[in-house]
Amino acid sequence: MITFSKISNINSFVREQRSQGKTLGFVPTMGALHKGHLELMKRAKQENDLLVVSIFVNPIQFNNPDDLKKYPRDINQDKKLLESIGCDVLFAPAVEEMYPDKVVKKYNFGTLETVMEGASRSGHFNGVAVVVHKLFDITLPHKAYFGEKDYQQLAIIKKLVEMEAIPVKIIPCPIVRETDGLAMSSRNTRLTFEERASAPYIYQTLKRARKSNETICPGPLKQMVINMFEAREEFDLEYFELADGENLQPINSWSASTEILGFVAVKLGNVRLIDNIRII
Ligand code: PAJ
Repeated sequence: MITFSKISNINSFVREQRSQGKTLGFVPTMGALHKGHLELMKRAKQENDLLVVSIFVNPIQFNNPDDLKKYPRDINQDKKLLESIGCDVLFAPAVEEMYPDKVVKKYNFGTLETVMEGASRSGHFNGVAVVVHKLFDITLPHKAYFGEKDYQQLAIIKKLVEMEAIPVKIIPCPIVRETDGLAMSSRNTRLTFEERASAPYIYQTLKRARKSNETICPGPLKQMVINMFEAREEFDLEYFELADGENLQPINSWSASTEILGFVAVKLGNVRLIDNIRII
């Protein structure tokens, strides 16, 4: 695996590879890698000549400074994992390399960014879009892989690629879960023993919601989920939303859309977790 920290060096390298006809599969990450990340990478490795991964904890997508400070980092362990799956290229820049100047770019994603994570985390998706656009310009991938764990992020990236006419194919990848159902996340390492034991309740609740769509309407189903989290004092529910899988706008009837997902953001102690499930 070749590791780059400078933009000009990796950019020359990928240009050279492309000129030789090699295809590049790219997986952007913020490190603290787990099996969820590795599934994206294995797929990218299979479908392309070269696997390019970035590790960059992007400060401008954190609206909570404490969350940024506490974000888990372990570059040496990450490098071992990347070697183990045959990663070809790692790009791990410093913050000054990515942002020598203050970031002023503002995208307009319309109603895609005014709901759920966009409403809860002001500026978050703009920060994601700025870094991903920049990473695409630097690594020039043919295909880029994103997890459905961050479903709204995936929708934003698809929109970004369309709006800016970026020549990359976005490949969505399914959520990877622990055996007890908890969606894998770098943040899970911050859960205490007791919190970790409670955490599978999130997916259990989502599965209950999926099952209940046969018998109850969206409004009462939302209330059922709210009640289920209220019944467990360790959880602090931020939102549960039923929304269209394409435009992410809330739905009020099961016939409103052909693809409906349930989205949850919940705090367990100090750790904010998100998950989602396909309902219809
Ligand atoms: P990060 O949270 O490190 O996630 C990197 C990629 O891994 C994202 O596409 C995310 O959706 C995917 N991923 C994480 N956990 C997953 C799981 N359990 N199953 C499937 N995919 C999973 O998302 C980011 O970083 C950043 O916002 C980034 C796109 C790198 C921009 O900074």
